Amino acid sequence: MALVQNDIKGKLAFITGASGGIGGGCAKALLLKDCDLALHYSSNSLSMEELVAQLKKDYDTHVHPDSDRFLRITTHQADLGSVEACQTLLEDVRKRHGRPVDIFVSNAGISRFKKDIVDIELEDWEAVMGVNLRATFLLTKGVVPAMKEQRWGRIIFVSSIAGYGAGVNGAHYAATKGGMTGMMKNLSTRLAEHNITVNDVSPAMIGDTGMFPSSSDVPKHSPDIPLGRLGTPEECANVVVMFCTTGYMTGQSVLLAGGLNHK
Ligand SMILES: NC(=O)c1ccc[n+]([C@@H]2O[C@H](COP(=O)([O-])OP(=O)(O)OC[C@H]3O[C@@H](n4cnc5c(N)ncnc54)[C@H](OP(=O)(O)O)[C@@H]3O)[C@@H](O)[C@H]2O)c1
Repeated sequence: MALVQNDIKGKLAFITGASGGIGGGCAKALLLKDCDLALHYSSNSLSMEELVAQLKKDYDTHVHPDSDRFLRITTHQADLGSVEACQTLLEDVRKRHGRPVDIFVSNAGISRFKKDIVDIELEDWEAVMGVNLRATFLLTKGVVPAMKEQRWGRIIFVSSIAGYGAGVNGAHYAATKGGMTGMMKNLSTRLAEHNITVNDVSPAMIGDTGMFPSSSDVPKHSPDIPLGRLGTPEECANVVVMFCTTGYMTGQSVLLAGGLNHK
């Protein structure tokens, strides 16, 4: 019989888009669960450096300062719109940690905001497909073999309410996010026998992110969020940690949307 293994202390978590709002929140939450971190960024090296400095400070201050083992945090630059860069990124993570990824959070994403399909250029379609969906496929394909070997893995996609057909963006973005949720459901059935769970968090209207930089954006963008405010990266990270520490849950898409209806 399979064992219950929900302790993630010492696991290696690989998070894409950690230089952004939600990815940074996930990094912090997983560090506070004593995970080693491989943090990816694309263009914002300053934000990445600031996050790592903050994490090291928080760890030293708040977790267990008497520990003689420091958690290992590495940073990795890659434009996930490039197939080659996805492959190099995985090799870099493997080489610098010298061990397999245990937890993979596919979070990096772009929106190319355009509401009307008439305005969505083929180039927009291909760009969002590349970063949001193709990179998620390639990186998941890259981390799964070692997870199978060790008979433990957690894969979490950061999708969107757009994947359910709602949200403020257009069909190109929705297609990538719906694709991520479909891929998640397929993989969850294929990988369960290997003790690998696959789930997604589907947020809407999360503040302190590239999309909604501050909570004062609420009235302008969406006065009708039932809970009356934007969500926070920390709340997204709570769902990610819940998936990591709840190994009986797989194939689930959790809508994190302040009461917004996806129908
Ligand atoms: N904020 C929301 O309300 C909301 C709602 C639904 C879904 N989401 C999803 O949440 C995820 C995280 O977004 P966020 O809201 O935290 O926004 P964000 O702060 O803008 O973060 C986006 C992240 O994606 C990375 N990225 C952008 N282009 C990239 C590329 N070509 N290659 C690799 N990485 C790239 C960015 O890296 P650099 O900054 O280093 O370039 C950044 O780390 C996305 O998948 C987004 O679709 C967000």
